[in-house]
Amino acid sequence: MSDAELPVESLPIQPEPPESSSLELEPPMLEGRGLAKSYRVGGQRLDVLRGVDIAVREGEILAILGKSGCGKSTLLHVLGWLDSPDEGQILYRGRDRATVGATERAQLRNTALGFVFQFYHLLPELTALENVLMPSMITHGALTWGANRRVARERAAELVELVGLTTRAKHRPRQLSGGERQRVAIARALQNRPEFLFCDEPTGNLDGQTAEDVRALLWGLNETQGQTMVIVTHDAKLASQAHRIVHLVDGRIVTDREPELVEQVEL
Ligand SMILES: Nc1ncnc2c1ncn2[C@@H]1O[C@H](COP(=O)(O)OP(=O)(O)O)[C@@H](O)[C@H]1O
Ligand SMILES: [Mg+2]
Repeated sequence: MSDAELPVESLPIQPEPPESSSLELEPPMLEGRGLAKSYRVGGQRLDVLRGVDIAVREGEILAILGKSGCGKSTLLHVLGWLDSPDEGQILYRGRDRATVGATERAQLRNTALGFVFQFYHLLPELTALENVLMPSMITHGALTWGANRRVARERAAELVELVGLTTRAKHRPRQLSGGERQRVAIARALQNRPEFLFCDEPTGNLDGQTAEDVRALLWGLNETQGQTMVIVTHDAKLASQAHRIVHLVDGRIVTDREPELVEQVEL
């Protein structure tokens, strides 16, 4: 009997396509849909985000480039689950922030999402090492802190070394330069091994060489362990080294292309 005459039931089963070919169909790790946010200032409404659609894939470095005041920090806080949008949805691994309770949301922020703030937000009374330890103390709380302290301190010391601050570990923030504080803030963001890192102007207050050191540190995390990150910046040179750039202008995304293609775009 030839193949053409075989009953349908006995046709060979098609093998499943290889997994890699379905990668494009994988849902993004982080997705913002129609994000809008405004502030009330002196009786006036200031529309800061005006319908932002954005998606970030696992393992990607995405740069959000824009002028000062265009809404970058606001957008990053919304993407990082720190702040809620007025309109739109923010999904992390398919979970909608609006449907997740406050306790679980805080837990996700503390364990999966790392945040490097534009103005560091280090605690002034704590040393550099203690600032880096802070996320572990929050995670474990008073009850389990004792049992985890040694491992957490080792991790913090490793990170302080990674950012080149071992000799400054016992300094308080006011005894550190801007660049050193920035590096403490990065180490702190990494303490709980976040699978997603948000960086707000991570090189904004640094001189050329220190900025390059910080960039190399962040990019190294991506190369060695596939760290996913979103970096907001007004620095086109930094952004040009990301895997992808989006431009934010007046609360809207105006381009979303590969870095090579955006060099002529006026900011
Ligand atoms: N909490 C707030 N209350 C009122 N206005 C705010 C607040 N946060 C930010 N803004 C305003 O929203 C705009 C965007 O701010 P921001 O997101 O910090 O921009 P960027 O980070 O791009 O400099 C600015 O005009 C800023 O003054
Ligand atoms: Mg900002």
